[in-house]
Amino acid sequence: MPVDAKVIPPGGTIGIIGGGQLGRMTALAAARLGYRCHIYCPETDSPAFQVAASTLASYADEAALTAFAAAVDVITFEFENVPAESVRILSRHVPVRPCWRVLETAQDRIVEKGFFNNMAIATAAWRPVLDRAGLGAAAAELGLPSILKTARFGYDGKGQVRIDDPRELDRAWAAIGERPAILERFVPFERELSVVVARGLDGAAVCFDVVENRHRNHILDVTIAPAPIAPHLARQAQDIALAAAAKLELVGLLAVEFFVTTDGTLLANEMAPRPHNSGHWTMDACLTDQFEQFVRAVCGLPLGSPLRHSDAVMTNLIGDDVNQWLDILQEPGARLHLYGKAEARPGRKMGHVTRLMPRADRQL
Ligand SMILES: Nc1ncnc2c1ncn2[C@@H]1O[C@H](COP(=O)(O)OP(=O)(O)O)[C@@H](O)[C@H]1O
Ligand SMILES: [Mg+2]
Repeated sequence: MPVDAKVIPPGGTIGIIGGGQLGRMTALAAARLGYRCHIYCPETDSPAFQVAASTLASYADEAALTAFAAAVDVITFEFENVPAESVRILSRHVPVRPCWRVLETAQDRIVEKGFFNNMAIATAAWRPVLDRAGLGAAAAELGLPSILKTARFGYDGKGQVRIDDPRELDRAWAAIGERPAILERFVPFERELSVVVARGLDGAAVCFDVVENRHRNHILDVTIAPAPIAPHLARQAQDIALAAAAKLELVGLLAVEFFVTTDGTLLANEMAPRPHNSGHWTMDACLTDQFEQFVRAVCGLPLGSPLRHSDAVMTNLIGDDVNQWLDILQEPGARLHLYGKAEARPGRKMGHVTRLMPRADRQL
């Protein structure tokens, strides 16, 4: 059997690159299915270190990467900004799921937006921007307002500047550190949606329900499941996510974010090949949650039912919000998840709460 086609039965060890809350919740789901997890992360005090074996080393440390590969049966990652070269090194020793080519597509907005458009998936109008002159040309072509986004390493709105007036171009280019970027036309959206797809080793795929996301200070604040939208729009979002996952030959999870414009058009915004904050509601409201689907896919197991047995509203606990934990614990229908982070810095995701509304109409 080729190394990439291997099924890892329960009892095996899953290597996870990245030690944040997504790695932590993946490790907890894996433990329930009888797996061990080993986290590789360069940051001390990583939330996932508390619940799994760990290697504290840089992503460029080839010796540490090789030792890590020797200690695990399969490798995955919980965030996409791992150097693709490091993942390529690991792939020589052990199956890496999803494969490094998926990372390369998702970690650069220029490649990612090109990927969508090549599949005839509509996005906001955009142009690659490689230098200051290119920014001027892109702004002239697209018009303003537009948003300048670094091609790499952006998250929670970091590395983004909105430009309303041509006189702001110099300042915007300096603000993103004069790095490769995209300029994207501002979308007057009615709402934002996302959907998470799981795709297994055999190519079978399942899709969770489409949700609505509301942001505060560019950070996800609330996810509403299901999104209050017309069924044809939800189906369209799911079909796009399923098609993208198939095209990437993905093994694992893919989250795709969308805008619904004020005239009802669906535009893909970005994608992430890993568990996603907007999928946390599935932990409490679905028969199989995104973390278990992730573990199943990465280990080559059959996927579970994504059926939503309850409607849900997930709220992130950011910074001092975490102090509400005692009230939340006393609230009927609320499920509390804390990430074990010591310091509640402003903007830091400390946990989340999912408020459930069970559905009487559902046959399991
Ligand atoms: N072209 C756009 N038009 C309007 N709002 C945008 C646009 N691009 C991003 N935003 C807003 O900023 C948020 C973060 O942008 P996004 O591209 O998802 O980057 P990231 O989540 O990686 O920081 C989006 O969820 C949306 O609220
Ligand atoms: Mg986003």
